[in-house]
Amino acid sequence: MRLAQVGIGQWGKNLLRNFAELGDVVWLSDADPGRLAEYGARYPSARTTQEFEQVLADDEVDAIVVATPVPTHYELSKRALEAGKHVFVEKPPAMRGEEMEELCELAEERSLVLMPGHLLLYHPGVVKLKELVDSGELGDVLCVYGNRQNLGTIRLHENALWSLGVHDLSVLLYLIDEEPSELWAHGNAFLNPGVEDVVFCYLRFPSGKIAHMHLSWLDPHKIRRITVVGRDKMVVFDDMELERKITVYDKAPEQPTTTYGEWRTRTGDIYSPKIANTEPLRVECEYFLSLVRGEGEPLRAARDGLVVVRALEQLQASLETVPA
Ligand SMILES: NC(=O)c1ccc[n+]([C@@H]2O[C@H](COP(=O)([O-])OP(=O)(O)OC[C@H]3O[C@@H](n4cnc5c(N)ncnc54)[C@H](O)[C@@H]3O)[C@@H](O)[C@H]2O)c1
Repeated sequence: MRLAQVGIGQWGKNLLRNFAELGDVVWLSDADPGRLAEYGARYPSARTTQEFEQVLADDEVDAIVVATPVPTHYELSKRALEAGKHVFVEKPPAMRGEEMEELCELAEERSLVLMPGHLLLYHPGVVKLKELVDSGELGDVLCVYGNRQNLGTIRLHENALWSLGVHDLSVLLYLIDEEPSELWAHGNAFLNPGVEDVVFCYLRFPSGKIAHMHLSWLDPHKIRRITVVGRDKMVVFDDMELERKITVYDKAPEQPTTTYGEWRTRTGDIYSPKIANTEPLRVECEYFLSLVRGEGEPLRAARDGLVVVRALEQLQASLETVPA
């Protein structure tokens, strides 16, 4: 499979390392000539160019990896799809639902893969969470919440919702598997005007499930955690833990017949299933290549990405209705 990559920055270089090991990277494109020279020397079998058109014009290129800043994703992905190339694009592929819808339609019309880089979905801990939810072991899921807090990295352009929230949102939507019917976000820009550094989000789903996200780079704790509360059991995915990434709590409220309608709490075992040590980025890259080879559900990834972009757009609109 012949691949090209546009954007070789802090994150793009990780994608490049993986794709170069899994496929044949034949073009590198970046607006920065210094970056091109550096990575052209490291990957001598790839040609380099500042002109994306040159990549698009090469009939031998099957797929393009887009790892440029977020505001450029839609335009570059659209041009790649129009040129008949499969696309892997970093999250989120567009900043507006309408634009993402257009990308999905373009990919479907041309039978091309459009896969957003929602890295956490390929994390073995998240895969285990999904397995626990879908198996019914937790009982009906009632609420899910994400905590993504730390002191830094303070961004100048993307707010905490777009920079941090996109990760948790992709997981919450994957676990609940419904499109939210109500979305609210509140936050404040304490450091850089217009760039919210602390954001609280609330989502409600048609089934009555609810979700919450606390996103912040102004916080004393480094937290990367997702909690799922089921009717029968509860589970926590904690990415800061080295070994116990997933903890299942056999705890729940119950109404024994002897208490005539009163609630009691039940506390049972607490256990941590073994989670594979595979690199999520490697799994994500392999998954993209398998879709391009025609395996799996090629339309699913793009449509799931559309729900994430729509939710982000609505949360951003809600955030803006609250005076700073
Ligand atoms: N999945 C993850 O966990 C994760 C983590 C970090 C970043 N990201 C995403 O990866 C993307 C890139 O982030 P980064 O940290 O590497 O950014 P970066 O600023 O370090 O790199 C971006 C690169 O794109 C180049 N570029 C900018 N505009 C261009 C254009 N129009 N055409 C060609 N090249 C262009 C820049 O010269 C730079 O080399 C972002 O979308 C970001 O959200 C994802």
